[in-house]
Amino acid sequence: MQYADLLIHSADLMATMRGHSGCPAFGEGMSEIGLIKDGAVAIREGKITAVGTTEEVLAGGWVGSETIQISAKGKVVTPGFIDPHTHVLYAGSRENELSLKLKGVPYLEILKQGGGILSTVRSTQQATDEEIKAQTGRRLQTMLSQGTTMAEVKSGYGLTLDEEMRALRLIKELDNEQVIDLVPTFMGAHAVPPGYTEEEFTNYLIEDVLLQIAAHDQAEFCDVFCEPGVFSVNSSERILTKAKELHFKLKIHADELAAAGGAELAAKLKVVSADHLLQASDEGIVALAKQGVIAVLLPATSFNLAKNTYARAREMISAGVPVALATDSNPGSSPTESMPLVLTLACLYLRLTPEEALTAATINAAHAVGRSNQVGSLEVGKQGDLLILDIPNLNYLPYHFGSNPVGTVIKRGRVVWNS
Ligand code: NIG
Ligand code: FE
Repeated sequence: MQYADLLIHSADLMATMRGHSGCPAFGEGMSEIGLIKDGAVAIREGKITAVGTTEEVLAGGWVGSETIQISAKGKVVTPGFIDPHTHVLYAGSRENELSLKLKGVPYLEILKQGGGILSTVRSTQQATDEEIKAQTGRRLQTMLSQGTTMAEVKSGYGLTLDEEMRALRLIKELDNEQVIDLVPTFMGAHAVPPGYTEEEFTNYLIEDVLLQIAAHDQAEFCDVFCEPGVFSVNSSERILTKAKELHFKLKIHADELAAAGGAELAAKLKVVSADHLLQASDEGIVALAKQGVIAVLLPATSFNLAKNTYARAREMISAGVPVALATDSNPGSSPTESMPLVLTLACLYLRLTPEEALTAATINAAHAVGRSNQVGSLEVGKQGDLLILDIPNLNYLPYHFGSNPVGTVIKRGRVVWNS
């Protein structure tokens, strides 16, 4: 018998999220979280070997003298959170823009004046590799302590071939050097840098940068900030079509600040995920559902933009769009690393139930980063990434906010963080 390296047992509640690995949960399926009372999970060599009630798992004979046992009595066990939309790789910060925002200066106006994303492009370009990695590493450690065990990370604060290549290289290095698994996305189309028109920069990305990024095989996804005044639907379509030819998987920032047909484009190109979607049209929502595009919703960004505009998550779920949640962690529109905060905002302002929010932050998020075979649920054969939450029941997770509900983080069967 090959014994488990780790046994978590006696969890008051264990949300396995089982049964959604083949296709993302949608509609009423988003409420099916595979709950087990008095739950247990056994992990060997980083992978889950048994899941069930404590009695069932113990009867399976997984426990030997070497097996580390942790009781989750009085606690809730879930898969690790997956954060499928972040811009966490950068140097510097933008707290100087707070006063502008409070005076009502719009986000895109700050960008137009050379601030916003372009300000972080400057601070990132001026930083050494070590500075960027040290600052990003601290944010990743905060993410881990709040339960994130996998995160997508976008480039996009470089905006030249060399700087974008550097960003993707640093994402790869950080993936190897710290605990959270990172999924790299190329997002050269994040802003138009000074000295270019939108068309010139779009051509540069298509004719030069994308080819080089593809040749070096440094990114899995390609993403575009599709927004009037940044990259139009037409430019976004050109960039994403080229990326598809080069075998990138696709994502899009769509309909964040204005309704411009971003969701419709996402459906037309059958992207893996369309993100933001605050202003998505009725037709756009129906089109996303029809093509099975995942809506990655970012309520911390809505909260931080302070305009009381949130994505129409209930309509999306009714229409059959699979919904995932992410932090959008970035120095401008969402300076946070906290998935628990996102879950709270998702329940209060997107009107998700706690069950739907958990689905959105685990198995649907795994689909949004193309990793649903490995993570996102507690099922035999999957990576042993899970959380022991210091909460008495699932409602407590979004209900109590502003402090960390995460008691223990387990990554590939090893305790990597304890409160
Ligand atoms: O998803 N909208 C574009 N990109 C980011 C913001 C990045 C920044 O402000 O630095 C977002 O919100
Ligand atoms: Fe974003």
